[in-house]
Amino acid sequence: MTEVEIEAERKLIVALDMPDAGEAYAFWQRLALPGAVAKIGLELLFAGGVELARKLSAEGARVFVDAKLFDIGNTVERATARVAALGATFLTVHAQDPQTVAAAVRGRAGSSLKLLGITLLTSTAPDSLGAQGISLPSAGLVQLRARFTADAGFDGVVSSPLEVHDLKAAFGGKLAVVCPGIRPGTGQAVAGDDQARTATPGDALRAGADYIVVGRPITQASDPAAAARAIIAQMAEAVAEMHGAEKSR
Ligand code: C5P
Repeated sequence: MTEVEIEAERKLIVALDMPDAGEAYAFWQRLALPGAVAKIGLELLFAGGVELARKLSAEGARVFVDAKLFDIGNTVERATARVAALGATFLTVHAQDPQTVAAAVRGRAGSSLKLLGITLLTSTAPDSLGAQGISLPSAGLVQLRARFTADAGFDGVVSSPLEVHDLKAAFGGKLAVVCPGIRPGTGQAVAGDDQARTATPGDALRAGADYIVVGRPITQASDPAAAARAIIAQMAEAVAEMHGAEKSR
């Protein structure tokens, strides 16, 4: 593997969206991507995913606990401390209320757990904000929430590939941006696809994403390890281009 490919692999988060921890563990082993991040979401968390997070972390993998926490401060603080004790690398927390965000920062004290804010679910249609009593447009709401999240000491936010550019313009290196909604553009369709606003792996990185989250294009592929390697190759191309642009500046 070249240095650029190693760098690209470290930016890949694989969503292990499956109903069984044993199956997810075997799948992760078959992928054989030591530099990538294993994402354990709500479905798997309720099917042995917590123990899986502990096991993979102990084996040296970086684990992303996609628990999207949102509760009173005391509960969020204590739950965050438990996730940190698993050895996980990333945890998501809803960034709707500055109190929740501050509580998560207290909860990870003394650990290396990185906190990522969910500013707005990408499934939220802009016209549904009014029904929730929110008068700000979605872009303004994302910026407002990203601001208090950064100020509280979060490490990053999750955003659609279409918002990355504005977030990076406003926050630069202060907030890492993690993008789901990635489709490799190889013509292979994803069954039951519900992602509307998508980008290719290379274009998401070019727009400024620090990490990309890929689920079904890998988990549903006839050869998942080959699909992951093809995605890493697309990412490596973008990383190499960006290094080239930095050098010529
Ligand atoms: O299968 P697919 O590549 O669409 O998977 C994307 C993953 O990213 C899923 O685990 C999904 O829950 C997650 N995600 C998302 N949109 C967000 C936040 C997380 O698709 N805004």
